[in-house]
Amino acid sequence: MFDSKGKSYLDGSGGAAVSCLGHGDGDVIAAMSAQMNKLEFAHTGFLTSEPAESLATRLVSHAPEGIEKVYIVSGGSEAVEAALKLARQYMLEIGQPERKHFISRRQSYHGNTLGALGTGGNMWRREPFDPVMVSASHIAPCYAYRLQEDGETGDEYALRAANELEDEILRLGPETVIAFIAEPVVGATAGAVAAARGYFKRIREICDAYGVLLILDEVMCGMGRTGTFFACEQENVRPDIVTIAKGLGGGYQPIGAMLCSGAIHDAIERGSGFFQHGHTYLGHPIACAAANAVVQKLTQGGLVDRSARMGHYLESALDAQFGQHSHVGDIRGRGMFRALELVKDKETKTPFDPELRLAKSIKAKAMDNGLICYPNGGTIDGRNGDHVLLAPPYICTEGQIDELVGKLAKSLEDALQ
Ligand SMILES: Cc1ncc(COP(=O)(O)O)c(C=O)c1O
Repeated sequence: MFDSKGKSYLDGSGGAAVSCLGHGDGDVIAAMSAQMNKLEFAHTGFLTSEPAESLATRLVSHAPEGIEKVYIVSGGSEAVEAALKLARQYMLEIGQPERKHFISRRQSYHGNTLGALGTGGNMWRREPFDPVMVSASHIAPCYAYRLQEDGETGDEYALRAANELEDEILRLGPETVIAFIAEPVVGATAGAVAAARGYFKRIREICDAYGVLLILDEVMCGMGRTGTFFACEQENVRPDIVTIAKGLGGGYQPIGAMLCSGAIHDAIERGSGFFQHGHTYLGHPIACAAANAVVQKLTQGGLVDRSARMGHYLESALDAQFGQHSHVGDIRGRGMFRALELVKDKETKTPFDPELRLAKSIKAKAMDNGLICYPNGGTIDGRNGDHVLLAPPYICTEGQIDELVGKLAKSLEDALQ
């Protein structure tokens, strides 16, 4: 990218994990333009459209087992809102109206609208709106670097972390819980935190035992970002509802989607017959045309595989550059979704003083050095801790990854001076 003075920037985070194909992709632009010349808009209250239908079919053909239906919206928060409302309506349709609670995790982010913000676990974002939000209760994230105890194996930790969900369901009353919502790989708030192996398997067992739905929010980590089309493929877990956005449109159009199981769809069809929700721009034909072209490139075009492959290169480059760095406590993530967690003291994992606003300073230094990356503060608990999130386009070359890592190293040095 170039600014108004001609200075160039390497986009190392695709904005916030959006630009999976990079900027200026001719195929996506051509698909949008062709659709614009055919039909620019069709209100889903009256009509469907060919691009919306083919996008839904395409997404389902790559979706986890049991996921059969797609509801196309205009972004991540809308997808999450639709998921929450669908989950509640499902409980009404199956005769369980007493179910009214959502459970999510601390240090998660699910969007900025009141329902999505209410389930999110990022305290500073929630605070001002707390009195007017849909309330949810929060369990701990599965965050091994900070929460796995000395002497505890990865498997033991995964089980302990997942069992918090069962404790919370029992505390609230199992007959009152609608759903548990989580990001398979936590994005903006904690920085590319994947769960310990076995965590989501246990989560699924707990949800099944108490009739609680499992909603996986893949708005940031989905669409090939972690090296598989859906991030949850790597957890071998079957969600009831999945939300996607960001990489689905690759930044070419604002688009998101909520996907649900055939069982949820059928219960509603047999019951009231319609999902009591809607927005004017559902299934927008031009957004769907763009997403069809993006998904085609990700799947048949081999870019999801490339995300996995180049992700390994990025991982090695980060390890080589920062593995011995005295202020890089953890290097983590999957595919083209990686993060560094910064610490004042590596031995004790002590974070920097939040008053230093380290993340903000890294962001500014990186811009000076011609790099766009996505640093954030409050990694540990919404206030303490800093990380830098990287989410480069899957088309990145090895040379561009080397450039990214080099510019990041310089920016860290500049910010830590
Ligand atoms: C996991 C997750 N869910 C939901 C959202 C909200 O998406 P949007 O900003 O498109 O409304 C985001 C945005 O960063 C996200 O990372």
